[in-house]
Amino acid sequence: MNAQVVPLGQQPRQASSPRRQAAGAGASKQIRFDRVCLDLGGRRIINDLDFVMEPGEFVCVVGPSGCGKTTLLRLLTGLVKPSTGAITRGGVEISGPSRDVAIVFQDYGKALLPWRTVAGNVSLALEAMAVPKEERAGRIADLLRKVGLASHAEKYPSQLSGGMQQRLQIARCLAQEPAVLLMDEPFGALDAMTRQGLQDEVAGLVEELGTTVLFITHDLDEAIYLGDRVIALRANPGRDSSSLAQSIAIDIARPRDQLATREEPEFLRLRRHLFDFIQEHHK
Ligand SMILES: Nc1ncnc2c1ncn2[C@@H]1O[C@H](COP(=O)(O)OP(=O)(O)O)[C@@H](O)[C@H]1O
Ligand SMILES: [Mg+2]
Repeated sequence: MNAQVVPLGQQPRQASSPRRQAAGAGASKQIRFDRVCLDLGGRRIINDLDFVMEPGEFVCVVGPSGCGKTTLLRLLTGLVKPSTGAITRGGVEISGPSRDVAIVFQDYGKALLPWRTVAGNVSLALEAMAVPKEERAGRIADLLRKVGLASHAEKYPSQLSGGMQQRLQIARCLAQEPAVLLMDEPFGALDAMTRQGLQDEVAGLVEELGTTVLFITHDLDEAIYLGDRVIALRANPGRDSSSLAQSIAIDIARPRDQLATREEPEFLRLRRHLFDFIQEHHK
């Protein structure tokens, strides 16, 4: 990865920041949902979804269970095609899985190979990319250091805590050097302290790498804490209302702080706004 590392905290995360231009070519592509509708089993799951993700933007998605969050993520992988409308990245229609796009699932246990060590699991992604053997060890060590697993390289997944297993899944995704990282409730199964630690690690890593992130969560605080923007999806959109109920810019400086940020008036204001909105629309 030749992404230039910009010290954290020097600038707020903005789509126009130089860090973004410094990231790999794939990272500089805008993702555009253009009036996307999706019907599954005769039901409208996603209706008239229209939005743009800027390169390097961290977009969080909230909404009640069953509103189509995971489906939205699957649309971005190209595994599911819109019934009407189009999804493009850099002006090109997303037509199928791409190495540029990595997915972190909530269920880290199933995402890891139990018979491979921590290093072996990361190696898998490098092998898939045909990275020469002599380069792999260095890259693995670098990735494990980044996610705080350097001293666990020879352990097996079953010997790791949930938080560590999730770190490993993230390291394996980053090995792919994705321009786009899709995360589906990745911290939902973790305890509060582990979750907060991982929030900060992921925020720091994607900041450093200029990765565009779509992050699904049902935790409004987590969405505001992590996002440059939070979008709220409507349950049962029907055919006359868009799935996209709200798109809220989170104008809070980075790096964010688990205590100070969550006490900022702007954080509390946004939290209230989103909470009221969800209460009103998701009865
Ligand atoms: N392959 C499918 N066929 C039919 N319905 C589906 C399929 N996949 C998802 N759905 C339905 O689409 C809706 C949205 O699902 P999903 O995206 O998983 O919601 P969320 O992640 O927000 O909880 C649900 O009602 C679900 O039952
Ligand atoms: Mg889901």
